[in-house]
Amino acid sequence: MVCLGNICRSPIAEGVLKHKAAKNGKNWIVDSAGTESYHIGEAPHRFSQKICRANGIDISGQCARKFSPDDFERYDKIYAMADDVYREIKRIGGGKAIMSKVEYFLNESMPGSNASVPDPWYGEESGYAEVFELIDKTCSTIVSKYSI
Ligand code: 4NP
Repeated sequence: MVCLGNICRSPIAEGVLKHKAAKNGKNWIVDSAGTESYHIGEAPHRFSQKICRANGIDISGQCARKFSPDDFERYDKIYAMADDVYREIKRIGGGKAIMSKVEYFLNESMPGSNASVPDPWYGEESGYAEVFELIDKTCSTIVSKYSI
């Protein structure tokens, strides 16, 4: 799960997908990262933590890191939370980029849309609830998609 800062959107996506995967008996390794360096080492945004906690998910232990070209080797699937993030994943990956592994996150719930999860960073707390709903719905679709 990749966004810009790895403190607002992708930590929610990591927490929600981990939670749903575990509930469905899947031993997936779910992680998140950001394409920018500004918040490396920080915990998720307090509103991201709050909306997750309100939904029974604790993401307080997460720690922001930067997306690395090695992530293309470590993971089978890389979800870009937004358009700018998709382009940065490709740029950072350079010669190691395997773009067939990269998908717009929202294409799982809105196929072919190439839509972006809105960035709640500059907005109000209500934006985090809206983002949570989008992420929650999409993670449910991902878990069903990979279930028999
Ligand atoms: P995120 O949100 O990509 O969902 O973690 C942002 C967090 C920080 C900044 C931008 C977006 N920033 O400019 O510091």
